[in-house]
Amino acid sequence: MHKSYGVNEIREMYLKFFESKGHLRLPSFSLIPQNDASLLLINSGMAPMKPYFTGETEPPRKRVCTCQKCIRTGDIENIGKTERHGTYFEMLGNFSFGDYFKKEAIAWCWEFLTSPEWLGLEADRLYPSIYLDDEESFEIWNQDIHIAPERIFRFGKADNFWEHGSGPCGPCSEVYYDRGPEYGCGKPDCTVGCDCDRYIEIWNNVFSQFNNDGQGNYTDLIQKNIDVGAGLERIACVSQNVDSLFDVDTVMNITCLLNTSPSPRDLSTYSMPSSA
Ligand code: SER
Repeated sequence: MHKSYGVNEIREMYLKFFESKGHLRLPSFSLIPQNDASLLLINSGMAPMKPYFTGETEPPRKRVCTCQKCIRTGDIENIGKTERHGTYFEMLGNFSFGDYFKKEAIAWCWEFLTSPEWLGLEADRLYPSIYLDDEESFEIWNQDIHIAPERIFRFGKADNFWEHGSGPCGPCSEVYYDRGPEYGCGKPDCTVGCDCDRYIEIWNNVFSQFNNDGQGNYTDLIQKNIDVGAGLERIACVSQNVDSLFDVDTVMNITCLLNTSPSPRDLSTYSMPSSA
């Protein structure tokens, strides 16, 4: 069984890991999009950085990492129906603007998730997915990371191509964590990609190499980029072995205070922040 980490510990661990790989840590951007009429609210780590992906603006460094505040309006209808969708969430992200590409992104994803020095999740509970014919990613997962071919899932555009309105986009390679049959729907064909809460997507490596003009026309970007997004609360949910995003430590610290029912957590050491 893996070690359990708090939300705040995971955030710091992730940013430290990517700093050790040459990334510049930036603070979260505002939830309100700036100069981007395609989004109501910032929905991902990459959204505020679109001009760095297109080459329109020079980034402060070619490797950047953030923990971005997000609200994904498209997920609102799923909230309360699944254990893995939330209103507000934080997205861990590491980005390459025309610097490293698939090989490094996948290797670092695996190192962070499985190394006992970092998150230390069980490798045999993790399953990567790739975009249909992305043989380059397949080779990396299979040859470099030593994942057996039958554990690598191929999905189409609906699952493994990141785009949101206009702007930088591309095929992606996700990582799912198997929480066990107790979280499954029980259907005989339940496997990675099933809509239930057993195989939960915890990491998305996007190979951002195209620009969508918003009308579905794709052109090559002037550079190949990496856009990684990992839901902080989902990773915490898996690390802490709790049922849902609403049961992770930071959320419980609030809901237990509001709730009169007996608390599953000892709050005797909790001190209320002084009011501003
Ligand atoms: N843009 C991708 C996502 O939000 C990866 O960061 O899933």
